[in-house]
Amino acid sequence: MKPQIHLALDPSWTQVETQWRSPGSRVGPRYPDVAMFEDMARLAERGLFDMIFFGDGTGIPDTWTGGIADAVTYGVAWPRMDMSPWITAMSRVTSHIGFGLTYASTFMHPFYTARLLNSLDHITNGRMAFNVVTSQRRSDYANYGFDGLVDHGERYERLEEFVDVCRALWDSVEPDAFVWDTTTGMVADPAKIHPINHVGKVFKVKGPLNVMASPQRHPVVLQAGGSPRGTRAAAHVADHVFGLTKSIPAMRKQRDDLDAALRAEGRDPAGVGIIWSIRTIVGETQAEAKALHESLIADVPREAVGVWLSHNTGYDMAQLPPRFSLGELQARIVAANASPVGFVGLLSEKYGDSTEFSRDEFFDHALHAATGYDTALVGDARQVADRLEELFEATGSRGGFMITLSQAAPPRTLENLVDHLVPELQRRGRYRTRYDGKTLRDNLAT
Ligand SMILES: Cc1cc2nc3c(=O)[nH]c(=O)nc-3n(C[C@H](O)[C@H](O)[C@H](O)COP(=O)(O)O)c2cc1C
Repeated sequence: MKPQIHLALDPSWTQVETQWRSPGSRVGPRYPDVAMFEDMARLAERGLFDMIFFGDGTGIPDTWTGGIADAVTYGVAWPRMDMSPWITAMSRVTSHIGFGLTYASTFMHPFYTARLLNSLDHITNGRMAFNVVTSQRRSDYANYGFDGLVDHGERYERLEEFVDVCRALWDSVEPDAFVWDTTTGMVADPAKIHPINHVGKVFKVKGPLNVMASPQRHPVVLQAGGSPRGTRAAAHVADHVFGLTKSIPAMRKQRDDLDAALRAEGRDPAGVGIIWSIRTIVGETQAEAKALHESLIADVPREAVGVWLSHNTGYDMAQLPPRFSLGELQARIVAANASPVGFVGLLSEKYGDSTEFSRDEFFDHALHAATGYDTALVGDARQVADRLEELFEATGSRGGFMITLSQAAPPRTLENLVDHLVPELQRRGRYRTRYDGKTLRDNLAT
C-alpha cells in the first residue's frame, strides 16, 4: 500500500476575508449556530477526514493602532468561542472523526487542561487531540496579566514542562484501576493510582488526576512550533506536528530539522507526521475554483489586513515608515519577542532581507497572505491531488494536510473536497476508503 495522505479540516474563525457576506454563508446573525458545526462534522466524516481542528486565541486583536476598533468592526479573529462544548456536540452526531482543540500553555494550568482533555476524550470515545501553543499574540497576554509577550525561549520551556505534567497526570490512573466490584464494594484499586509529585521549574502538581483513564489515555498531542526552539519543543512533546505549507525546499528543511530534533530526543521520526496547513479550493471545474479563489480577496479593507498581520506578528504595522527593508522590519519583530518565522520571515525568504518595500506594496502582499490567496492550492480535483501528492512525497511521505476553510466559506467548498478531491485521492491509492482505527491516534497511525 502506498503511504497514505491524512486530511484534517481547519475551519477556525480567524480569517479576514469577507465571504460571510456571500449568499448561502451560515455565518451571520445566527452565529454561533451549533447545527452548522454539526453539519460540518458530519460532512467531514463523510470525507473520512482524520479530524476537525480548531485553533484558538483569547484576545480581540489590539496590536494594530493599539486598539480593538478595527478588529471589532471587520470581525478579524473574533468572535471565538472555547470550542470544547461544541466538540461535544459534534462528537454526538459522528463516530470516527477526531477533534483538535487548542490551548496556550503560557496561560493555562496543566492540571486543569489534562483533566479537561481527559473528559473530552471520554465523551468523544477517544477522538481528541490537543494542539499546545505558546501564543505570540499581545491581546491574549493582556487577558492573563502580562504587559507584553513572554520571552520566546522561556515560553517554550514552560510548554515542555506543561506537557510533561499533562502526560504524567494522564498516566497517574492506570487503565484497569477501576474495578467496580459489587461484591467487595471496591471502586478502584489504590495500587493503580499514582500521585505524580511533580516539582519543576514552573509547576508544582501533586496529582493524581481524579478521573478514570480515557480511551486514548493520552489524547494526541499536536504542536506547531516552526522556529528552531519551537521545533525542539515539538520533538519533545508532539505526536504529530503542524507546519505551514511553503516552498518545497523550505518544507523539506522543516522536515529535516524536525527529524534531527526527534533523533536528539531518542525518537523515531518515521512515526511523526507533519500535517501541513494549506488553503485548498477545489472546484467541480477549474472555472468554479477560480471564482471561489477570487472571492477571497474581494472587498477586504486594508485595516482588516493590518489587524490580522499585526496580531499574528506581534508588531503594530500601523507604525510602518513609508519605506523600509524586510530585514529592518524583521529585526523589530524579533525585538518585540514575536515569532521570527511568520509572514515577514517568509517574505524575506522570497525577496531577501535587503529588499525595500513601500507601505502600499507591503500591504498588497499582506492582503494575499492574510487571506491565503497567494499560497492557496486552487483547481479541480485532479490538479489539487497532483500537487498534494507532490508535496507529500517531497516531505517524506508522512503526515498529510490540514485544509484551511473558513466557516464563512460557502458550504459548497467543503462538499467539493468530500465529493471530488477525496475520491480522486482514493483512486490514486493515497487515501483511506474507511476508518480502520477506533481512536484518532489509531487512524493517524495508519
Ligand atoms: C497550522 C498552525 C496552526 C496554529 N495554530 C495556532 C493557534 O491556534 N493559536 C496560536 O496561538 N498559535 C498557533 N500557531 C502558531 C504556532 O504555535 C507557532 O507559534 C508558530 O508556528 C511560530 O513558531 P514559533 O513559536 O516556533 O516561533 C499555529 C501555527 C500553525 C503552523
